[in-house]
Amino acid sequence: MIKILTIVGARPQFIKASAISRAIRDHFSKEITELIVHTGQHYDDNMSSVFFREMEIPEPAYNLEVGSGKHGKQTADMMAGIESILTKENPNAVLIYGDTNSTLAGALAASKIHIPVIHVEAGLRSFNKSMPEEINRIVTDHVSTLLFSPTEKGIENLLKEGISNNTEKPYHIDNPGVFHCGDIMYDNALYFSKVAEDKSNLLASLKLKNNSYVLVTLHRDINTDVPERLNSIFKAIERISEKGDTKFVIPLHPRTRKKWGELPDETLKDIIENNNLITIIPAVSYLDFICLEKNAKLIMTDSGGVQKESYFFEKPCMIMRDETEWVELLELGTAQLCGADEEKIVQSYKELIGKKDLKFPEIYGDGHAAKFILKKILENF
Ligand code: UD1
Ligand code: UDP
Repeated sequence: MIKILTIVGARPQFIKASAISRAIRDHFSKEITELIVHTGQHYDDNMSSVFFREMEIPEPAYNLEVGSGKHGKQTADMMAGIESILTKENPNAVLIYGDTNSTLAGALAASKIHIPVIHVEAGLRSFNKSMPEEINRIVTDHVSTLLFSPTEKGIENLLKEGISNNTEKPYHIDNPGVFHCGDIMYDNALYFSKVAEDKSNLLASLKLKNNSYVLVTLHRDINTDVPERLNSIFKAIERISEKGDTKFVIPLHPRTRKKWGELPDETLKDIIENNNLITIIPAVSYLDFICLEKNAKLIMTDSGGVQKESYFFEKPCMIMRDETEWVELLELGTAQLCGADEEKIVQSYKELIGKKDLKFPEIYGDGHAAKFILKKILENF
């Protein structure tokens, strides 16, 4: 029996972790035990507990309750907590996801005390180090023992950084194993898609019809913490809504909710709040959210996970960023970068909504990435 310690802390990590926990429960329960550590980075019920309940994720064995804070303090507090748990539990490996501060804290704490790190969602790069996530990803990949990339591009990025694609086992920090595995978020999209339609009644309660609205999410610091960008994005949404034929649904991340009060254009804020085509709601659960995605006519987002889900559910996507790690979406033309520029957003909307011939070939695996990852883990430990 091998013991894996999974570290999660932010919304997308609970979602990703659920795919692996489910695969352990269904296929590997005799070979793998998993202990979950929640750093407490996200803590509101609708940013944390709801995912554990709804996605049947095992209760965390530990919750560090680190909460919000500046990067350095938040990461350091997590590291101190993780280090003591690792010393006590002595797992065979630590499993981490994505690129948040919880990921970085797990990677540094484990690798420094010689516990192998398994990084799921390795190799993604924006080539923009002003993003905290880019620093987290690079550092994490360089101290990992097993690196699982959802895309071919991710593998290419790792090789370019000198992380060799070695096939000589056993893998260790100086001889890492690099694998192209598909996307575990796709595992979830397939698994929960039907359940979501059956269980969620959000569409009915918001009186939304299929294909009648645009779904928007926004939480990147570059958009929320630069008031002019936030203003310009909402101005564009308001302009698109003026035509009268499209509703907008905006489940707001708490970070953005806090910044909403600082929107420089007070009049715009009033107009949006009184526009009955624009509905702003608190962030919703995964099942509610994928229902919103499945029935939207277009998705506007700066989220990494939501960009991909737009693809899984075959929706055009406007990325409110200046670059993306998910370059396949741009190459296939299903998504466009539109930054936070009002004019660009309005133009991009016109262009994408008019496209009727978008194709969504299966580029994110076959929905069994979690099983593949666990087999490779078992082979190595
Ligand atoms: C974090 C990740 C980001 C990821 C996102 C997913 C880092 C550096 N960033 O960004 O990569 O895309 O999670 O959602 O790790 N807040 C609450 N309640 C909560 C959580 C947050 O009110 O439950 C508010 C707090 O004011 C907090 C702010 O949101 O200061 C930002 O939270 P934080 O976890 O620092 O970063 P995110 O923007 O959520
Ligand atoms: N999501 C959710 N409720 C919401 C918005 C998003 O459950 O109100 C889910 C979404 O389905 C996706 C994940 O959150 O799986 C994306 O996380 P987020 O946008 O917070 O972070 P990112 O992927 O950008 O790191």
